[in-house]
Amino acid sequence: MGVGGSFLRLHLRGQGICHMRSASFFLVLLVLATIGKPPWAAAHNFHCKHPSSGADRPHSVSITEFGAVGDGVTLNTKAFQNAIFYLNSFSDKGGAQLFVPAGKWLTGSFSLISHLTLSLDKDAIIIGSMDPYDWPIIEPLPSYGRGRELAGERHQSLIYGYNLTDVVITGGNGTIDGQGSIWWNWFNNNTLNHTRPHLVELMYSTGLVISNLTFKNSPFWTIHPVYCNYVFIQNITILAPLDSPNTDGIDPDSSTNVCIKDCYISTGDDLIVIKSGWDEYGISFAHPSSNISIKSIFGESRSGAGIAIGSEMSGGVSEVHAEEIHIFNSLHGIQIKTSPGRGGYVRNIYISNVILTNVEYAIRINGRYGEHPDDYYDPYALPDINNITIKDVYGVNISVAGLLEGIEGDIFGQICLSDISLNVTSEDSTWNCSYVEGYSYLVSPNSCQLLQKIPNDSSVCYSPADNLTLYSGGNCSISSYVTLASL
Ligand SMILES: *[C@@H]1O[C@H](CO)[C@@H](O)[C@H](O)[C@H]1NC(C)=O
Ligand SMILES: *[C@@H]1O[C@H](CO)[C@@H](O)[C@H](O)[C@H]1NC(C)=O
Ligand SMILES: *[C@@H]1O[C@H](CO)[C@@H](O)[C@H](O)[C@H]1NC(C)=O
Ligand SMILES: *[C@@H]1O[C@H](CO)[C@@H](O)[C@H](O)[C@H]1NC(C)=O
Ligand SMILES: *[C@@H]1O[C@H](CO)[C@@H](O)[C@H](O)[C@H]1NC(C)=O
Ligand SMILES: *[C@@H]1O[C@H](CO)[C@@H](O)[C@H](O)[C@H]1NC(C)=O
Ligand SMILES: *[C@@H]1O[C@H](CO)[C@@H](O)[C@H](O)[C@H]1NC(C)=O
Ligand SMILES: *[C@@H]1O[C@H](CO)[C@@H](O)[C@H](O)[C@H]1NC(C)=O
Ligand SMILES: *[C@@H]1O[C@H](CO)[C@@H](O)[C@H](O)[C@H]1NC(C)=O
Ligand SMILES: *[C@@H]1O[C@H](CO)[C@@H](O)[C@H](O)[C@H]1NC(C)=O
Ligand SMILES: *[C@@H]1O[C@H](CO)[C@@H](O)[C@H](O)[C@H]1NC(C)=O
Ligand SMILES: *[C@@H]1O[C@H](CO)[C@@H](O)[C@H](O)[C@H]1NC(C)=O
Repeated sequence: MGVGGSFLRLHLRGQGICHMRSASFFLVLLVLATIGKPPWAAAHNFHCKHPSSGADRPHSVSITEFGAVGDGVTLNTKAFQNAIFYLNSFSDKGGAQLFVPAGKWLTGSFSLISHLTLSLDKDAIIIGSMDPYDWPIIEPLPSYGRGRELAGERHQSLIYGYNLTDVVITGGNGTIDGQGSIWWNWFNNNTLNHTRPHLVELMYSTGLVISNLTFKNSPFWTIHPVYCNYVFIQNITILAPLDSPNTDGIDPDSSTNVCIKDCYISTGDDLIVIKSGWDEYGISFAHPSSNISIKSIFGESRSGAGIAIGSEMSGGVSEVHAEEIHIFNSLHGIQIKTSPGRGGYVRNIYISNVILTNVEYAIRINGRYGEHPDDYYDPYALPDINNITIKDVYGVNISVAGLLEGIEGDIFGQICLSDISLNVTSEDSTWNCSYVEGYSYLVSPNSCQLLQKIPNDSSVCYSPADNLTLYSGGNCSISSYVTLASL
């Protein structure tokens, strides 16, 4: 058939945005040609509700009351630690706010506490120390068994938290800058002693809000909630040079009920990537990521993907729901990465309303990603990849429509593609599939043979049930976090 060139119109609809420049792009809803909705296009509501209020803290102090100096030169690690230690006494009294006024606040790593709001002035910049000794060494994550890039321990993130509830990191678009270039150099010239630190990492925590800020130049991944529940990330900008190594944007890892919306992300690796541990360590730790809602994301990644899952997915990833995604100048639009040895599963993934501009691979599923923590992984631990629905995708200047590679003896099933129109750069730039099974409907260029069945029953393709759209949505508002955190 070929519906290329048969778009009727681009239909604009408006609401929340994170980056004014991007408004007209990711609010585009693709309305496809001739026939209309595919058999499985059950309407669904996305309820990542706009928060109506922030947590009001009865007490507030400024970092300057603890001797901090915002000259960009004085090291303020002690001031942050002392302020937070002091504020601990308010945690059973509704919590407290630590305010960071205008200025450049150099610091090493510090740890947050429960019931804390870290609030930055719009002209406040927290900058990470360039001395690696200001980033302590901590245990590797149990679900990785070792540091992600070097065996053994790893550096602690600049802003760190463990075992917390009810934490807010916010500001009127103030900045947290990791000054990562020195770490990228150590990485590039092989002189790191331990795995690089993230900019923000929160472990085993519940009820987190990260909003209204700019995060820059992370040494490694930018925001890493791991073993967390109820995470709300909204209206943030994440920036790192397009050639900086592994500077992922947001990495929900073995975490549940996560909402990410209205963000602009431009980094050197995946913009948003959902993970759950690595090979035998992830399999035995068995902490899945599920109920992940993503909406209104705009950005670019020259060597990564806009929305990715894996490659560390050994604890399982399910119920991922992403929409209004606009990716430009990137290697991949949407990518699922896995490998023999990972085990785990990726299932019940629903991605819709995607616009891709100047993207090499619009959609990629890679069943042979490789990268193992050590030689002890089980090569027969095969991932179970199932129920992946991708619909309403519009792309221009796409080099490869789709490279979808399952694993021999481990077919990736129920892959459903619908309402996809990609303006590809050549006649060979079509779909290339192996060891996958599924359906397609209104896909241009024509999808591969393995996916050419048209479903005759709406239940064959995964689509979140209407009343399940609250899976993180209902919890995707500050009030429910606050309620939860006060339990
Ligand atoms: C696809 O791109 C080519 C070259 O840029 C352009 O001529 C053509 O009109 C585009 N087709 C559609 C359907 O947008
Ligand atoms: C985390 O919380 C658990 C349960 O309250 C406690 O046993 C453990 O010691 C805490 N760990 C740290 C590092 O605070
Ligand atoms: C996003 O952040 C900016 C800067 O802090 C603020 O002006 C704007 O109102 C925020 N938008 C939303 C939707 O929260
Ligand atoms: C926040 O600041 C960043 C970096 O200066 C800027 O690119 C972005 O547009 C600002 N965001 C908002 C919502 O004002
Ligand atoms: C590696 O990079 C660091 C940081 O830029 C630099 O200090 C060091 O001299 C470099 N080492 C080598 C062997 O190039
Ligand atoms: C690595 O260890 C060496 C030897 O202890 C030390 O001189 C160097 O500063 C360390 N480099 C980093 C990036 O931590
Ligand atoms: C972000 O800032 C805007 C404007 O000040 C405010 O209305 C909104 O509640 C803030 N969002 C969050 C999640 O804190
Ligand atoms: C098409 O996309 C590629 C990246 O995949 C980019 O290098 C090239 O400049 C783009 N072409 C146009 C005409 O924008
Ligand atoms: C399909 O992809 C495989 C693996 O990347 C590659 O070896 C093969 O040449 C591709 N086939 C076509 C027809 O492009
Ligand atoms: C796959 O999706 C279908 C349709 O939504 C659903 O009935 C089925 O339970 C899902 N399979 C798994 C393994 O969750
Ligand atoms: C969702 O709807 C189904 C069928 O309409 C119903 O059986 C189920 O109880 C509902 N679940 C919730 C959580 O409301
Ligand atoms: C995911 O969301 C559903 C629907 O709201 C809820 O029933 C389920 O408990 C959530 N899963 C987790 C792991 O919290």
